[in-house]
Amino acid sequence: MEVVKINGACKTFRVDRNEVKALNGIDLSINAGEFLAIVGPSGSGKSTLLNLIGCIERPTSGTILFEGSDVTRLSEDELAEIRSAKLGFIFQTFNLLPVLTVRENVEYPLHLRKTAKDERDKKTLAILKEVGLEAHASHKPSELSGGQRQRVAIARALVGAPSIVLADEPTANLDLKTGEDILKLMKELNRKHRTTFVFSTHDPKIMKLADRILELRDGEIAGKQCT
Ligand SMILES: Nc1ncnc2c1ncn2[C@@H]1O[C@H](COP(=O)(O)OP(=O)(O)OP(=O)(O)O)[C@@H](O)[C@H]1O
Ligand SMILES: [Mg+2]
Repeated sequence: MEVVKINGACKTFRVDRNEVKALNGIDLSINAGEFLAIVGPSGSGKSTLLNLIGCIERPTSGTILFEGSDVTRLSEDELAEIRSAKLGFIFQTFNLLPVLTVRENVEYPLHLRKTAKDERDKKTLAILKEVGLEAHASHKPSELSGGQRQRVAIARALVGAPSIVLADEPTANLDLKTGEDILKLMKELNRKHRTTFVFSTHDPKIMKLADRILELRDGEIAGKQCT
């Protein structure tokens, strides 16, 4: 089953009088349960593509079907609803809330969805165990290593059982070994929960763990897709 189907997506940014064509005619199907890497040089459009899939930005032209419905026609509120209910995000710089504990950070998306307390506690504890951080539940992010912080972010992305988790260079601020461990954890969760993962990376060691590699060049899909 396809979770996302993109047809002829283009994204143009206007800066003053100049136009930057960040994406140019992207056609892409992402299957449920896939572990997909997006690679390509700096400026090739990786983040822009992730932002379109994540309903953070809209394409200038083309369509994006999310679980069969065209999200390019939705209002801002409807897009926010999809982001909250169906998507999980992992960032290069972790983006944890520094004043909240590990547990509170992970629980946060469930608060936004107004999940009942019992269920929040149960789900938060379960996912913290899965990422190996139950013993750190009452720590603040500043008391954790980079790898541990990214584990918190992974738990936060997955706590609400999203259809897709999007990760923009999730290992860029980690050393190679920690980065590899983080990707292995993502893959383990991908297998176990059948959650679709789409991530961008520059790291060849990490690309090896992908089911499929999509290469972008100048806003277009380059070459053959390897499976
Ligand atoms: N908000 C924006 N306003 C104007 N131009 C933008 C914006 N976002 C991206 N761009 C431009 O679109 C192109 C693609 O950018 P994008 O950030 O998607 O590349 P990337 O592949 O993620 O690069 P990197 O590997 O450096 O993160 C670049 O030329 C960039 O300057
Ligand atoms: Mg980028």
